Amino acid sequence: MTKDGKYIAVVTGAIGGLGTDMCKQLADEGFFVVANYRTQNKADSWQKEMQEQGYTFAMAKADVSNYDEVGAMVEQIEKEHGLIDVLVNNAGITRDGAFRKMSYENWDAVLKSNLYSVFNCCHHVINHMIQQNYGRIINISSVNAQRAQFGQANYAAAKAGMHGFSKTLAIEVASKGITVNTISPGYIGTDMVMAVPQEHRDKIVQNIPVGRLGGTWEVAHLVSFLASKEASFITGANVAINGGQHVF
Ligand code: CAA
Repeated sequence: MTKDGKYIAVVTGAIGGLGTDMCKQLADEGFFVVANYRTQNKADSWQKEMQEQGYTFAMAKADVSNYDEVGAMVEQIEKEHGLIDVLVNNAGITRDGAFRKMSYENWDAVLKSNLYSVFNCCHHVINHMIQQNYGRIINISSVNAQRAQFGQANYAAAKAGMHGFSKTLAIEVASKGITVNTISPGYIGTDMVMAVPQEHRDKIVQNIPVGRLGGTWEVAHLVSFLASKEASFITGANVAINGGQHVF
């Protein structure tokens, strides 16, 4: 919490499509938001754009796939602002390709960025959350952790692993005022999804019952609810937000 009593929320991969709206929504709800990023020049222009829109976020650089960099980042946040109350593990990448052609590098990069990152961030914040008897951890997984998606063996493995992790950590810290949940977005209108070739994207949208891609703001509202004090009885859950796609 900050000295003036605001809950501190850290969003990893903050400058991406989903992360940006999460930061704004959490700020609108009264959180002190720390935006984690990896690439300096992108973060600089993002911060400027946010300021023009009336948002001032604290910025924290770290490659979340690197355990020691995350440790240094958490230490810096705690020193400058206070202990972390909310951690949103949102950073993630795709390296899609048929498994028979998938390189070890593309397997490794996706596992490190999407799953090891969750270990790295949680491991560095959990003891202080236990000490303060309060915490909210939200892991951003994917509908493709439960459904098959051609070309995503690496991504599906990482995203499914994330929820196994959430459930276990949830029960380990349930008596300490800490909740740990997974959100599994479907296809949301982000750069990541828009990078899927149009012919594949069109087929995917045809299979979404509500008939459209999701909005980043829709995911952001769910994040802010799970981050709230009021969400104290929800833990170990995997909340789907996919326009009905999981029904198939
Ligand atoms: N279903 C079935 N077969 C397919 C296929 C598909 N979707 N895509 C390709 N194939 C077939 C091809 O016809 C080809 O067959 P032959 O060998 O008999 O000719 C074979 O598989 C290999 O095809 P490619 O050489 O094109 O395969 P590739 O390694 O280049 O990968 C792909 C193709 C890039 C993965 C492409 O299928 C694709 O973009 N699919 C969509 C992936 C997707 O939805 N990703 C989600 C990204 S967004 C995200 O992840 C966010 C989130 O959480 C939802």
